[in-house]
Amino acid sequence: MFNHLNIGLLGGGQLGRMLIQAAVDLDLNIAVLDPDKEAPCSSLVKEFIVGSLTDYDSVYQFGKGRDLITIEIENVNIQALKQLEKEGVKVFPQPDQIELIQDKRVQKQFYKERSIPTADFVLINSKSELIQHSGFLPAFQKLGKSGYDGRGVQRLTVASDFEKGFEGESLLEKLVDYQKELSVIVARNTVGEIKAFPVVELVFHPVHNLVEYLFSPAELRPEIQKAATDLALRVINELELTGVLAVEMFLTHQGEVLVNEIAPRPHNSGHQTIEANFTSQYEQHWRAILGMPLGSTTQLMPAAMVNLLGEEGFNGPSHYDGIEEVMALEGVYPHLYGKKITKPFRKMGHITVLDKNLESLKSKVKTVKERVKVIAKQPKKISI
Ligand SMILES: Nc1ncnc2c1ncn2[C@@H]1O[C@H](COP(=O)(O)OP(=O)(O)O)[C@@H](O)[C@H]1O
Ligand SMILES: [Mg+2]
Repeated sequence: MFNHLNIGLLGGGQLGRMLIQAAVDLDLNIAVLDPDKEAPCSSLVKEFIVGSLTDYDSVYQFGKGRDLITIEIENVNIQALKQLEKEGVKVFPQPDQIELIQDKRVQKQFYKERSIPTADFVLINSKSELIQHSGFLPAFQKLGKSGYDGRGVQRLTVASDFEKGFEGESLLEKLVDYQKELSVIVARNTVGEIKAFPVVELVFHPVHNLVEYLFSPAELRPEIQKAATDLALRVINELELTGVLAVEMFLTHQGEVLVNEIAPRPHNSGHQTIEANFTSQYEQHWRAILGMPLGSTTQLMPAAMVNLLGEEGFNGPSHYDGIEEVMALEGVYPHLYGKKITKPFRKMGHITVLDKNLESLKSKVKTVKERVKVIAKQPKKISI
């Protein structure tokens, strides 16, 4: 069907790995570019090119002559993608949309211009300006660019916290006293068909701003489910983005849904769709960018996803302690990303848990969180 196409993927991390798993079933040929020769995709594809994702020449040379380029990370060289597009290479999501999303400042201004509900913010050009905005506290300061997984985002509570403020171009955003963090993954294909996955509820690590685990569907009143879904669909329509888009949101105590940020690719809040939904977010991405009909997003069973983060205090060859014990339980699916070295809080894998019954789902999640630890392998004792 599409096996004649020469498709390039920018980024060879875990999202790329799962995109490739879905690509295999559709008989797609994927080449990957990543700066790390041992990236999670490195052993999966025939053509794995080691090179920078942010350097013009490296991205341009990788993309030249291909039929289609897509991404699994948004921090990529936009100028190269624009040039490739001019030369007839299809690029989805589109370079303009990736560019908008790359900068949290531009993203927030987009929401404001389009009256998309989001937390109040001010743009900050340098650290010294922060002090003028003490009335905005408590707040989150976010760097415009280069923030990823909680880096480049910090909470500032009182004026003395301005001392630890970031230097570069940033924004200061009012703290949202939310009851829940939600995410909705939506997709839009090349002819404008759109579909949303069920609303997911995210639970973050209290210190490190990383998703610890999630539940899908979120436990919400139907009108909140609808508000979150409608908002996510509105964002992808306003952006006219082709591909999969993750929309992270806050649900306030007043029942208001605010957009926090978006990601123009599959997202860790959609891992569970592999086992729990008719169509996975990864397959949906290929369907969307290849102009196929979008798949049904209906969920077959309640699901949870537990992130496997490197344990604090361990640095070295990765070992997944306790994994066999939880695999003995029904509906427990490990996904290990193939990263050889564990570091504290590095995303090493995830475990999807399914159960018809919500209470036993929660108890299985508790067991998985307690039992499975990513640690560094102890050197074996040599017995003589
Ligand atoms: N305005 C805010 N109010 C309360 N919590 C916030 C706010 N902004 C961010 N956070 C918390 O910090 C996390 C990370 O922020 P986010 O903007 O999503 O950055 P990134 O995911 O790029 O690190 C959010 O998921 C949320 O837990
Ligand atoms: Mg985020």
